[in-house]
Amino acid sequence: MFIDKFTPVRSKAQLAALKLIVKLIPTPMPNILLGAQSRLRLAEQIAHFGFKRVLLVTDEVLLQLGVTSPIVDRLNEMGVETVVYSEVTPDPGFRVVESGLKILHQHTCDAVLAVGGGSSIDAAKVIALAATNNKTPQDLVGILKARKRALPLFVVPTTAGTGSEVTIGAVISDEITHVKNLVIDPKLVPLAAALDPEIMVGMPRSVTADTGIDALTHCLESWISDFSTPETEFYSGAGVRLVFKHLEKACENGQDHEARGAMALAANYGGQAINKTGLGYVHAIAHQLGTQYGVPHGRANAIVLPHILEVNRKCAEARMAALARFCDLASDKDMDSRAADKLIERVNELLAALPIERKVKGIDQSHFADIAQASMKEAHGTYAVPRYLNQGDIVQVLRVISAS
Ligand SMILES: NC(=O)c1ccc[n+]([C@@H]2O[C@H](COP(=O)([O-])OP(=O)(O)OC[C@H]3O[C@@H](n4cnc5c(N)ncnc54)[C@H](O)[C@@H]3O)[C@@H](O)[C@H]2O)c1
Ligand SMILES: [Fe+2]
Repeated sequence: MFIDKFTPVRSKAQLAALKLIVKLIPTPMPNILLGAQSRLRLAEQIAHFGFKRVLLVTDEVLLQLGVTSPIVDRLNEMGVETVVYSEVTPDPGFRVVESGLKILHQHTCDAVLAVGGGSSIDAAKVIALAATNNKTPQDLVGILKARKRALPLFVVPTTAGTGSEVTIGAVISDEITHVKNLVIDPKLVPLAAALDPEIMVGMPRSVTADTGIDALTHCLESWISDFSTPETEFYSGAGVRLVFKHLEKACENGQDHEARGAMALAANYGGQAINKTGLGYVHAIAHQLGTQYGVPHGRANAIVLPHILEVNRKCAEARMAALARFCDLASDKDMDSRAADKLIERVNELLAALPIERKVKGIDQSHFADIAQASMKEAHGTYAVPRYLNQGDIVQVLRVISAS
């Protein structure tokens, strides 16, 4: 659940009303195919459903690596034509979506297939939604801006982080203002997605680490959200456990199918959790580091996460302690304060073990006030965080980040 407009911090009654609305809005679930070769089974499903010409949305790196080839081959064998659109860039902007939309219309494609990380998936989601609604991608920014269902969408994630294959959101950047815009609509959820560890084996270590921390952050922000429920806790708790157990292994040995599959699930669980709870200040600040300084999304989360955990410690200590116990990091004998410590220590230990350079190049203290304002604009009244921060709190976090 995301909201795109800056509004003052909400009252408890407003938050309670919002919580009820979120609970009542049904979230569709894609048909999830799991395991090795599931990407090929997804291609077969597209053919079974009778689609004739599919727009394949991906990026140039993946195309050149041949990551998309087996899927294209299987589609063609099954009689489905593919039109490849590979101009997606990290943190895609409106122009990327517009160009893809143009190609879709030129070739009268009847379905869209995203093969890629969150950038390709988000671009594909908005292309599919704009295609049927006769709207520009800019028109779709905000909540529930589309009236018609999207063109049928299928997804094969090649990273294990965003969980975008299951979320009701897509993030599209404005190339001029460098603002990340959120399109929020349950109609963005794909018809089906394949979580295939085989397609992730070539993911570089740094991308594996960055994206894995994105999944962890989704789960942690969801767990401590005021909107968390027993249902979202199943997903966020399981996601955290999987990341703690498998992310280092996936980085050390990219060919480890078990670790790759577990991380794909962790990302998916994170997506399911944030669909109902939304995010928090780690993302609110990380989004600014992404748009202003080009820091990859997961890496930006890795930079901010430990500091926001410390900031939230006081007001979310019991929640953090419960998560530490759920992850077997602490026992019932531990006081909440000790259990929360253990959770934070585990996150820091994981971050230290991963190949993530936690530096923001080009950041200067003269930028802090603007970054804090933009972060507050995203978070306030939007995310059900345990405590609303003020400008001074965020500037302090930025000081620590830029000094480390
Ligand atoms: N919609 C959502 O719910 C949601 C949630 C979180 C983040 N996001 C958005 O997702 C985007 C980030 O996505 P991402 O972190 O998955 O990264 P990405 O899609 O930008 O990919 C990062 C890089 O890794 C490469 N890559 C991806 N998979 C690979 C593989 N298997 N082998 C080799 N190289 C590979 C890509 O070519 C690219 O250069 C951001 O724009 C972020 O805002 C969306
Ligand atoms: Fe994220």
